[in-house]
Amino acid sequence: MNPADISSWISDAQKAFSAASDLDQLKIARLAHTGDKAPISLASRTLGSLSPDEKASAGKLIGDAKSEIAQALAAATEKLEAERDAKVLLEEVVDITLPVQRSHRGGLHPISIIKNEISDFFIEQGFAVEEGPELESGWLNFDALNIPADHPARTMQDTFFIEPLDSGVVLRTHTSPVQIRTMLTQEPPIYVICPGRTFRADELDATHSPVFHQVEGLVIDKGITMAHLKGTLDNFARHMFGPDVTTRLRPSFFPFTEPSAEVDIFFNGRWIEWGGCGMVNPKVLATCGIDTDVYSGFAFGMGLERTLMVRHGITDMHDIVEGDLRFTRQFGVGL
Ligand code: DAH
Repeated sequence: MNPADISSWISDAQKAFSAASDLDQLKIARLAHTGDKAPISLASRTLGSLSPDEKASAGKLIGDAKSEIAQALAAATEKLEAERDAKVLLEEVVDITLPVQRSHRGGLHPISIIKNEISDFFIEQGFAVEEGPELESGWLNFDALNIPADHPARTMQDTFFIEPLDSGVVLRTHTSPVQIRTMLTQEPPIYVICPGRTFRADELDATHSPVFHQVEGLVIDKGITMAHLKGTLDNFARHMFGPDVTTRLRPSFFPFTEPSAEVDIFFNGRWIEWGGCGMVNPKVLATCGIDTDVYSGFAFGMGLERTLMVRHGITDMHDIVEGDLRFTRQFGVGL
């Protein structure tokens, strides 16, 4: 047991520990200099074969060496652990000043929002909401509404006909066929609104869209007069455009109402056409099997795009159909 050897084991271990640049390297050095096969370990295993005197002095040498090596190891461990902790803190740091990655929340299209708003308004007054199919029979879309075969609305220009043409099926040009469906299947009193999608062979431009929306109103009961129609439209208009809005009925013509009128609103300092209305034509009531001696009714219909455009000062239909979120979001989420 040569003291010079022992001190070289110590300095080898010290050098190896301080050369380790991370804890993994330190582990390798630790096994090499303190493990079972390390010179100091092998030396301490030979102590047993020495005489008691030799054992005492060699034991002290080896014990001192082991504790020096252990100190060097502890110092290196402490230093490398501190370095690792500092590095982790730096690598895992959260920069709370970075801009947020916003994810977009879904929302309803303004047409859906206004449709729900109208439905809620009428449901509160006891109306039911009825919906009909977008592919409609020509008979319900036209004939039952007293729109004769030679009416301009039936020409190829306005109506999308579904092939084969003799199927008699069209894309409904208005929500009025839902009136007929309701009267054919329900007994009066009837208080319904029918919002829905409608189609006409128009080019998309600032004020037209081939796909648009209407809401239809229908009331059939005993003793219904135009005063009820006017009162209902007044309330409806105030709900949609604010308490100061006034309405006016202007004589007009629709085959399914008699008399018929256009309903105008006075909004933002001018009269604006809002929709059509009238007393349901007795011919239409009779077609639906309703006793015209007992019942009368009124109906109205208006465009949802038009309502939205007037109310919000939207001047281009493209904004409504294109679905640009920068437009849509201005109306809120609407859920
Ligand atoms: N259906 C008509 C249209 O599309 C609108 C309309 C007018 C509906 C008068 C009605 C009404 O119910 O009474 O132009």
